[in-house]
Amino acid sequence: DPALIKAGEKAFRKCKSCHQIGAKAKNRVGPMLNGIVDGPAGAVDGFRYSKAMQAAAAEGLVWSHDELSAFLADPKGFMKGTKMSFRGVRKPEDIDALIAYLRDASE
Ligand code: HEM
Repeated sequence: DPALIKAGEKAFRKCKSCHQIGAKAKNRVGPMLNGIVDGPAGAVDGFRYSKAMQAAAAEGLVWSHDELSAFLADPKGFMKGTKMSFRGVRKPEDIDALIAYLRDASE
């Protein structure tokens, strides 16, 4: 849905201070996000994750739509000890839009 992707691109402005996505994406404050939807947590090469994210990765966390929604709504509530310093996405409709955008913008 192009309108949803467009809304997600707008919502992603809040994420851009820390994350990149797309062909030239690099790790910054946060890991690059190519392939993150339905991909394994804590798996981007060269990024130093928190102990909490490393533990979640070892337990096999996958960023399914539901897991990613819960994380983005309340990062520190979903994962105690994460170093993602972001209060969370307040509007539920922005979360679905963000996930559509993350899928679409991935290289
Ligand atoms: C981790 C998405 C905002 C910093 C992550 C992960 C996702 C994500 C999916 C997990 C990555 C993985 O498992 O490889 C987003 C989205 C944002 C956002 C969609 C906006 C809505 C931010 C902001 C910052 C940030 C604003 C910096 C202030 C980080 C850091 C991690 C992370 C440091 C690693 C967490 C850890 O190791 O515990 N983000 N993020 N993110 N993000 Fe964000």
